[in-house]
Amino acid sequence: MIKSKIEDNPSSEVIDKDFEPFILGIFCNWCTYTGCDQAGTSRMQRPANLRVMRVMCSGRVEPEMVIEALKRGADGVLIGACHIGDCHYVNGNHKTVRRMPVLVNLIEQYGFNPNRVWLRHISASEGAELTEIVKEYVKILKELGPNPLKNQKSR
Ligand code: FES
Repeated sequence: MIKSKIEDNPSSEVIDKDFEPFILGIFCNWCTYTGCDQAGTSRMQRPANLRVMRVMCSGRVEPEMVIEALKRGADGVLIGACHIGDCHYVNGNHKTVRRMPVLVNLIEQYGFNPNRVWLRHISASEGAELTEIVKEYVKILKELGPNPLKNQKSR
């Protein structure tokens, strides 16, 4: 567990212009992961800040997974889910939507900025939208600065 509260509110003087955020994408296999693949095969250019972990449904994303990613130094976690009504397991994405306020509240209690985790609904045919979302997230995380736990070994 994280032992002490984190300071995650950088002042504008501290902003590092060379900082490249690391984003962990936790993507549903049936929608965002496929959309990501489609963007790649269509040769859409997007920032190289994203690493993707595939899950079978966004409902599978436990808060612990996000906390662990932040604990290990991820600057942002992007959860990719099917659009409402399109979940292959009927209501997995409804659970994710309901879980988000709790998750955001939890990371805020640790001291993380709420923008360290995003949920976006991106279908398999929305590779272009995914590309734009990643670009926007990179921009926001650059303004936010590095995860305060980055490069800290014993938390
Ligand atoms: S199968 Fe995609 S969110 Fe459930």
